Amino acid sequence: MFLWVHYTDMVTALLAMPIAVAAGWVVMHVPASQGSGPSRVWRLLFGLLLGGAALRVVAALLLLPNGWDFAGPRLAFAGPALVVAVTVFWLWVRPMLRSPGGKWRVAPWPGDYWAVAAAVGGVLVASAAQLAGLRAAAMTGVGVMGAAALGSARRRTRKDRAPAGRWWRTPAKGALGLAVAAAVLVAWSTASQLPARHSMAGGPVDIGGGSMIGHSHHGGASVTTLTGTDTEGVPARRFTLTAQAAMVELDSGQRVEAWTFNGIAPGPQLRVRQGDLVEVTLVNRLPGVGVTLHWHGVDVPNAMDGVAGVTQDAVAPGSRFVYRFRATQVGTYWYHSHEMSSIQVRRGLFGAFVVLPADAPEQSDTVDETALRHTWVDEDGVATLGVTTTVQRRQVPAGRQVRLRLVNTDGNPATFTLTGAPLRVVAIDGTDVHEPNILNGVRILVGGGARYDLAFTMPDQPVVLRADGPTIVYSPDGNAGPGRESPVPAVLDPARYGTPAGTPFGADSHFDRRFTLRVDERLGFYDGRPAVRYTLNNRSFPDVPMLMVSPGDLVEVTYVNRSGQHHPMHLHGHHMLLLNRDGRPTTGSPWWVDTLDVGPGETYRVAFRADNPGIWMDHCHNLEHAANGMILHLAYTGITTPFQTGHGTANHPE
Ligand code: C2O
Ligand code: CU
Repeated sequence: MFLWVHYTDMVTALLAMPIAVAAGWVVMHVPASQGSGPSRVWRLLFGLLLGGAALRVVAALLLLPNGWDFAGPRLAFAGPALVVAVTVFWLWVRPMLRSPGGKWRVAPWPGDYWAVAAAVGGVLVASAAQLAGLRAAAMTGVGVMGAAALGSARRRTRKDRAPAGRWWRTPAKGALGLAVAAAVLVAWSTASQLPARHSMAGGPVDIGGGSMIGHSHHGGASVTTLTGTDTEGVPARRFTLTAQAAMVELDSGQRVEAWTFNGIAPGPQLRVRQGDLVEVTLVNRLPGVGVTLHWHGVDVPNAMDGVAGVTQDAVAPGSRFVYRFRATQVGTYWYHSHEMSSIQVRRGLFGAFVVLPADAPEQSDTVDETALRHTWVDEDGVATLGVTTTVQRRQVPAGRQVRLRLVNTDGNPATFTLTGAPLRVVAIDGTDVHEPNILNGVRILVGGGARYDLAFTMPDQPVVLRADGPTIVYSPDGNAGPGRESPVPAVLDPARYGTPAGTPFGADSHFDRRFTLRVDERLGFYDGRPAVRYTLNNRSFPDVPMLMVSPGDLVEVTYVNRSGQHHPMHLHGHHMLLLNRDGRPTTGSPWWVDTLDVGPGETYRVAFRADNPGIWMDHCHNLEHAANGMILHLAYTGITTPFQTGHGTANHPE
């Protein structure tokens, strides 16, 4: 429903622009129909405008149930502009067409001329507001008034001369019009260019209604000092991950030119135990590009977070970097490069990171596997689970415990279904679900970057895991095929799954800071390129104000998705507790996430404790969206960074 309304509104706004211009043009240039009455063409155009305006007001009203954030801007701004435009057209412009005579219509007196300009301008401004944002709407308004003033001045000086219909017929004037339009686009594109160097130690801040201790994040401790406590001594686990180009062969025989860790993609699965001191040496052997390692979902000390230009410099080819942290959280996580991440993750620089409980038995019968879903874009969008693109058959003796750790490395939600055995969803984003109830098959929408763990006892019949294409069939003899999927299991709603349990804070807690992040879909430019931008509070990186917090703060964040896309919002270094969705409190197990898929039209309220000082990226894990500016940072007072991002540096975390 939301999508339908949203895109109808956008398309209507888009179409209204040329129609409004054409309607104005007809009024000014076409002879009033011989005899009386408005010209037929004009009547048609005006009818379309009227219908469009009505549609847009209806759209706004239909969005009222989603909340004022959705309906308000449309009703408060686009609505009145449209009503004014249509009224002016109707009351003032239409009668002009009734005047007798077959002469070219040049508005007989200045008021008429301005009425037409206002009517056309009103539609253009209302459309620009919806399509490209308020700033573009304001610019459009100024542009329309400027053009109208210019036109009126010309008409006054040339009253005696040729009719205004000649305007577009004279090539020089047409060329001038095009040149002005081009200049506006070039200026718009240029204005969107990013600074060559940007430091996360500067820029605009949002203090979320809290007080600012220490005033700003200028000066203070460097992120490089935030290496964590308790990281001395001999690591329990040591790994080396070498970033290198390699051919990856899929089970279908297709070969992908990938960027890999240790020659394979997904990279090696790193398994450690809770409490282990982990040391990972990253070696870069990629041709000519930097690389980093980010521990997605692991709340590591800030200096180990692996964000190029924020917590470290990208590791140059031939260099290395050592990550060291204590694995304190049990669960399923993943690692990936956070340099040019929209390209590098897609090309294969990722792998699973699993933390087992400290008391997990050394030897166990449990089948414990990760299933990383990944789409190889360079191979015409081949979807894989690991390296499986089609069907993989696995033998698992009946009676065995099975734990499947689902990871979605893509940006769009992936649908996983599991059928054939009663199962439980035992963890989400690494955190155990409290008292998960048994499901008879399940369908899960795993958002970009998110993880879900499933557990079941192997029955004596096949169990099928589907992931939007690639399929794994577990059966006692290892020969069973996937069969038909029927019936299709119900979709899991994590907000209502499991049973409630105590949480350190909740919806009624006193919050030290409250932030709202509204996501919009805007046509425009980003860094000089034409782009569909998904803005946060009407801004893109690096102009989105940083969320400033002090250590110990209880922070509430509301994500409002007014766009037509899913946005898996990922906050580094913290786990967020879901408080409610679309105003309704969660009723199941406490639901903790590090990556929250916010669907079109949805509003989520989440909370977290600011207990991990540093400068943390908070971004959309649809990494193309991030590369188009959908990034902001959570910054603690008194913390600064010596690193910078931008064209003028080697750091491109997006
Ligand atoms: Cu999985 Cu900022 O990333
Ligand atoms: Cu997004």
